[in-house]
Amino acid sequence: MSVTTGRNVVVVGTQWGDEGKGKLVDWLTESAQGVVRFQGGHNAGHTLVINGVKTALHLIPSGIMRPGVKCYIGNGVVLSAAKLFEEIEGLEKAGVEVRSRLRISEACRGIGPAYEDKIARRALRVQDLKHPERFAAKLRVLLDLHNHVLVEVLGATAIDFDTVFDEAMRHAALLKPMMADVSRELNDAHRDGANLLFEGAQGTLLDVDHGTYPYVTSSNCVAGNAAAGSGVGPGMLHYILGITKAYCTRVGGGPFPTELDWATPGTPGYHMSTVGAEKGVTTGRSRRCGWFDAALLKRSAQVNGLSGLCITKLDVLDGLEKLELCTGYELDGETTDILPMGADEIERCTPIYETLEGWSESTVGVTQYDKLPVNARLYLQRIEQVTGVPIHMVSTSPDRDHTIMMRHPYLAD
Ligand code: GDP
Ligand code: IMO
Ligand code: MG
Repeated sequence: MSVTTGRNVVVVGTQWGDEGKGKLVDWLTESAQGVVRFQGGHNAGHTLVINGVKTALHLIPSGIMRPGVKCYIGNGVVLSAAKLFEEIEGLEKAGVEVRSRLRISEACRGIGPAYEDKIARRALRVQDLKHPERFAAKLRVLLDLHNHVLVEVLGATAIDFDTVFDEAMRHAALLKPMMADVSRELNDAHRDGANLLFEGAQGTLLDVDHGTYPYVTSSNCVAGNAAAGSGVGPGMLHYILGITKAYCTRVGGGPFPTELDWATPGTPGYHMSTVGAEKGVTTGRSRRCGWFDAALLKRSAQVNGLSGLCITKLDVLDGLEKLELCTGYELDGETTDILPMGADEIERCTPIYETLEGWSESTVGVTQYDKLPVNARLYLQRIEQVTGVPIHMVSTSPDRDHTIMMRHPYLAD
């Protein structure tokens, strides 16, 4: 396949996370030389299946499974060094070379209340680890503050300075060879014609501004943050791929208009939960399940500027007799065709559904669009019509190769 050079693609989740971003990032990395994480921390969890072998990733970009590809952790990421080395060692045991290919921005901060500290302009950055005295002074200020809350407000035990400092210095020695000016390296790679892939974590509805606030994560998960979170200009982002499950899931609390009963056997929600194996990679918690929400996707398309969609887990819907598609909501006596902003309004939304026929054939492992059952194609076409976003890819199993490509993100418009 001929691929355009110097072209950069952003992959974002368009729902509440776990849309299958990791699988698609790994697949698309065939056409890229560098993969960049730009936000979130080890709260992300991606499962990749390559030749039947599963790999779980949290902090390390999902491009790591392609030999020779460079992986970057941008300034927008919050980094737990302990979690990072746990993950690196796991990959090394499985024979994956990591340290020579991983570049970590010196502007990354530690996790914990890290985003809170970042906005309050007191956070510890990776670059502080290069100067033990500077690190120690900043750590003392932070511990004074956080220990006050821990002890006086929460009645918990204080964190010991020496324990944190000693561990940080041990990690500093291991991190130093991977510390980099990621912004400069990405701009240089782009100038030299590399294709880059910016990998989002979480999903648009977990974005701190555009999600179901306050039931959100602490970073911006939308495509625009690929630039700010890695140190490149927005003009370097050429194509935005929205990863979208063929239904919806959500981990944890917060409004979810199309949620179904997913615990009772025999119901469509139970089908999604069990056939889709909807359990969190990071927390092991069951993911709540519900119908596809096209009005939610409209919001996502708008705030990300999506170029195209990749519909994942279409195979999970195999065997369902009827499918409900949410096209809008009733809210306070009015109808609306787009998800409102913030949790309070979303809580009051009643979905408006349109019913489509399901299909009984298996779509597992299908790699050509015209081999999909006719009702599956009608479902996809209706999603395109209602959301106004073209579907460029479809995923039909967890396996790297079980992907239908209608329009390749790395081919120029
Ligand atoms: P991420 O956080 O967006 O990378 O997604 P996760 O990896 O947390 O969750 C997606 C889950 O669905 C993983 O277990 C994948 O292996 C699996 N998966 C991805 N695409 C497909 C697909 O098309 N069909 C099925 N059945 N499973 C898929
Ligand atoms: P990936 O990258 C699904 C959920 C958490 C919690 C809420 C806030 O795998 O798609 P936080 O860690 O910021 O306190 O989380 O959001 N959450 C995710 N759910 N996928 C994720 O990431 C998630 N990251 C956080 O469970 O309810
Ligand atoms: Mg996940």
